[in-house]
Amino acid sequence: MFIKVERDYEAMSQRAAEIVADVVRGKPAAVLGLATGSTPVGLYRHLIRIAREERLDFRQVTTFNLDEYEGLPASHPQSYHAFMWKHLFEGLGLRDEQTNLLDGMARDLAEECVRFEERIRQAGGIDIQVLGIGADGHIAFCEPGSSLAGRTSVVSLHPQTIADNSRFFENEEHVPRRALSMGIGTILEARCCLILANGANKADAWSGMIEGPISAMLPASALQLHPWAIAICEPAAAAKLRHLDYYRHVDRERADQPLLPPWILQPERDPRRRAVAAV
Ligand code: GLP
Repeated sequence: MFIKVERDYEAMSQRAAEIVADVVRGKPAAVLGLATGSTPVGLYRHLIRIAREERLDFRQVTTFNLDEYEGLPASHPQSYHAFMWKHLFEGLGLRDEQTNLLDGMARDLAEECVRFEERIRQAGGIDIQVLGIGADGHIAFCEPGSSLAGRTSVVSLHPQTIADNSRFFENEEHVPRRALSMGIGTILEARCCLILANGANKADAWSGMIEGPISAMLPASALQLHPWAIAICEPAAAAKLRHLDYYRHVDRERADQPLLPPWILQPERDPRRRAVAAV
């Protein structure tokens, strides 16, 4: 895992936006995996700025979002559909058909999950997956106890997640109890994972993800198994890292190295592909 601690939320967001922009600069038809929550909002703001300043072309990009609440129509202001249009899609001028979000209103939710995975495969897989982290270590809506090999499915939200997310709704009663979410297995297949954390309430989960054992009780720790996960935070989220000095040292040492894996542009260099080919 590449661990970076930036000066503050702005610097973290700017750095993350540069990384995503780099994927699109190198591969105009990139497949972007996207996240909701307050954390990536700054990344999205900077990405829109970069797109405008550089006239970076997003017309060939395809996006997939991690998750969506059950039972909220796309038009609901708290749906992740609405969130993405407000914070990113509109600013980038994306067309509806470029974007893929799970449909929380689908009549057959299980079938919707299967179809979503199929769409990811047809798009050629996700090049970079943006992630936030819950205070309990969840990623997407993969709550503690989720299978580390899980696929996209219907999940029940943890009472803590419902309480955390109630700030966006009228009250806790209005927060959906279930959601559709990519599984950890789905997320780990992305060619690169980019996870962000902001704030002291993430410090325990962040140190567990990086320094703790790999455990379904802290789903983000599964990223230790990913060949190219980039973890960027600001100082408050980094406060409980025991080896912070070492991570800063490594970061300085590899300052002249590319931050993106070579296999985004050259898929044959993906070590996981080679392992499959060798069998
Ligand atoms: C929700 C989302 C996650 C997100 C988490 C943290 O549960 N499903 O993808 O990482 O919230 O959100 P925030 O960034 O607001 O702390």
